[in-house]
Amino acid sequence: MIFNKKDQTTLENIITSRRDVRGNNFINKKISKKKLLKILNSAQNAPSVGYSQPWRFIIVDKKKKDLVYNHFSKSFEKSKKKFKDRKLYSSLKLEGIKESNINIAVYYKKSKKDILGQTYMKRTGEYSVICAILNMWLTARSLNIGMGWVSILKPKKINDIFDIKKEDYKFIAYLCFGYTKEFYDEPELKKLGWKKKKKLEKLILKKGKI
Ligand SMILES: Cc1cc2nc3c(=O)[nH]c(=O)nc-3n(C[C@H](O)[C@H](O)[C@H](O)COP(=O)(O)O)c2cc1C
Repeated sequence: MIFNKKDQTTLENIITSRRDVRGNNFINKKISKKKLLKILNSAQNAPSVGYSQPWRFIIVDKKKKDLVYNHFSKSFEKSKKKFKDRKLYSSLKLEGIKESNINIAVYYKKSKKDILGQTYMKRTGEYSVICAILNMWLTARSLNIGMGWVSILKPKKINDIFDIKKEDYKFIAYLCFGYTKEFYDEPELKKLGWKKKKKLEKLILKKGKI
């Protein structure tokens, strides 16, 4: 398949207008099964070390959502102490667990066998799961569905909630999907003055001759 200029612009637009969506922006509208499958299928098309496809998903039911939310609330309270700008941190809405329509917990399936490419860099399996998550985030955005990533969570508590054994799986991410009031044109944390956008020149550690 050869892509044209219009396709390239569309991809650029999807990438630049992807946002982390939180509870202040989700609306009460159901995501169809067809769209959910599109999002999950996009994960299946992600690259993975040795084509191991180590991603696993839990579609979270209402009862478990409440348990995760309660755990988040406690973790959020505790995490406040770590930040100098505690007032601004406390005012941030950093999840949309209850407000979003679908929550998905993402796990990495540990392998007992050797995997091509993973011999020395053991965490490449986990990196593969992150590739799958980004596919899901961008696909959701292309469907005008927002996604929010929640990481103020203790993996052990999440494993307990879902009755998952850490010997077999590693908790990677907790994702919230839903339709939104709007998609901000820039990251909310930038808008609120938490962090500025870094300049590209500052991100290049060493400049080789090209
Ligand atoms: C690994 C990872 C963990 C994140 N965890 C949280 C989180 O716990 N709560 C939250 O509000 N946003 C979380 N985010 C979203 C980031 O804050 C967000 O991506 C960043 O501020 C840039 O904004 P944008 O995604 O809207 O462009 C997380 C993002 C990543 C990649």
